[in-house]
Formats: sequence, structure tokens, C-alpha cells
Amino acid sequence: FVDMKVIRDLPKVELHVHLEGAIPKETVLSLAAEQNAALPRQERDLFSFQELGGFLRFLDWMCGLVREQATLETIAYDFAFRSSRQGIVYSEVIVNPTHWRALDLEQLVEAVHAGFDRAQEDGLADCRILLSLARHQTEKEARDLVEWLRVYRPNRVVGISVDGDEGAAGRTGPKFAGAYTMAESLGYGLTAHAGESSGPEGVYDALDVLGVHRIDHGVRAVEDQKLVRRLAQDHVPLNICVSSNLALLYPDLSNHPVGALYEAGIPVTINTDDPELLGVTLNDEFQMVSEALGWKVEDLTRVTEYAISAAFCEESKKRELR
Ligand code: ADE
Ligand code: ZN
Repeated sequence: FVDMKVIRDLPKVELHVHLEGAIPKETVLSLAAEQNAALPRQERDLFSFQELGGFLRFLDWMCGLVREQATLETIAYDFAFRSSRQGIVYSEVIVNPTHWRALDLEQLVEAVHAGFDRAQEDGLADCRILLSLARHQTEKEARDLVEWLRVYRPNRVVGISVDGDEGAAGRTGPKFAGAYTMAESLGYGLTAHAGESSGPEGVYDALDVLGVHRIDHGVRAVEDQKLVRRLAQDHVPLNICVSSNLALLYPDLSNHPVGALYEAGIPVTINTDDPELLGVTLNDEFQMVSEALGWKVEDLTRVTEYAISAAFCEESKKRELR
């Protein structure tokens, strides 16, 4: 398998990482202490998760502790700093406004922007933003988010996603189709979580109802060979997060379909999803996958090229990344 030093030195691109999942435990503990907020469980188990529902409720609690824009700016800056130390040069960071209950949309985006701007000025990774809808939100809330984008056009926002529990809220269906169409007409990239807590039907919905350009997770597409062939033929990128799936979805790596999806010719990318909450890094993910699947450096370079092609940034940036 590929040597860790080679992995570290490879300039990497990450497309599926949630800012909500990238807050270090020490930050959470110090915010909770400052505000005399009781921890939802013992400190030692604070970041232990069994299922997605409990995981998402924890995000609400944790992000609710962030009440000042300055705190969020630091969280964003530190994220870019840690990413850079992993050799990540470009990242698209998912931010779901529903989790950040103490800040409104404008305050939220402004603070994240400020942190990412300062990071880039300091020569760190170029971090862009994907604003995400929670699957349980209403059609109107989805349209309002995109309308807000139309008016404010924050320059680091490159696309939208939808996340949350695909099972509990049922299939997303046509609820967000109007918002997605509007976002696309404004030039935004479209992605959605699908085929994680939903089966292949969630992936079909993302493609046919939302018209996505790529898919977050999408791993359960493997349960439908016709769908696998379609994703390969149409070059639909799947932003895969192996450790996250091992925590919430599959019992072990031998059951994980990343190798099969890659072999089928689908442009898969490797990502962390929620690095601090899961205690993982992108370099460890690269190493784990290369070890489990016998990937060589050419394969790691190929998935990085897939990520650059799948990125929602301007073409001139892509040329710079290549
Ligand atoms: N929000 C943060 N991580 C998530 C995941 N893996 N699935 C759905 N929503 C999320
Ligand atoms: Zn995710």
C-alpha cells in the first residue's frame, strides 16, 4: 500500500466535510463550561455515536453553544489550518444553518467567510461553502435559502446540499425540486446526501427529482446494478466517507462498497464527513482505503483528479489545482 509520507505530500481536495462535524472536542468542552451547559453524556463518551438520529441531535446541541460570530470565525479558521496540515489545498465545506440555532443565516455565513478569508490570506487551504438544507425542512424554507443566496451572493458559497436523516423524514421527493432548479439557474452546484440512510431509491430521487451534479455518500447505489451502470456512464461523482459509514452504516470495511463502485468506473472521491466527531483525518482515510483495496499512488491521484473535476469552483481554480 501507499506510504503515509507520499499520502501526506499529495495535494488533496475534499468535497464532503461538515463544519458541524469539524469542531474539536476541547472547543466543545470549553464552550459548554463557559455557558454552564450540561453535557448530554459523559465527557469521555461525548463523541460516541451509534446511529444517525442521535448524531444529528448532538449537532444541534453542540452548534447551539456557538453564540458569537468570533467563535465561529475561529472554528472556520482552525478547520482550514488543520486541513492544510493534512495536505488539503481545496475544500468544499458543508454548513447546515438549521444546526446553528444562535446565529441567523447572515451572521453564520459572514463568520465562516471571515475565517476562511483569513485562512487563505495566511496561505492555508482555499475553503468554499456548500449551504445545506435539512431533510425535514419545508419547501418554503428551501426556497427562502436559495432566494437569500440570490440576493446576497456570498462569494465563497459554491453550491447547495441536503443532509439529515433520509429514513426519518422519508424520501425527499419533489419538496426541494423548485429550490434546486432555482439554485442551478443561479449557477450554483447541486449535491445531496443520498444512498446513506436511504437505499438506491434515494439516489434516484437525487438524480431525477433534484437534478444533482454529484452525490454525498451514494454508497447504497451498489444495491442496484442498473444504477451503478448509470452513475458510471454519466460520470456522476460519489463523495464517499468510509469511516463515517463504518460508524453509522456498515459493520466493517470488507462490507464497504467503495472498491466495487470505483472498479465499476464511477468517479468516487474520498472524504472525512465529520473529522473531529469521528476522530479521523483525510490522510488516514486515504491510507485505510489504499491498504484495504490495494490501491497504488496512481489510484489516489485518480480519485484526486475526480475530486477536482467534481468541484464546484471556477475553471481557473481547477486548472490551478491540476
Ligand atoms: N450531517 C453531518 N453528517 C451527516 C451525515 N453523515 N449524514 C447526514 N447528515 C449529516
Ligand atoms: Zn455528510
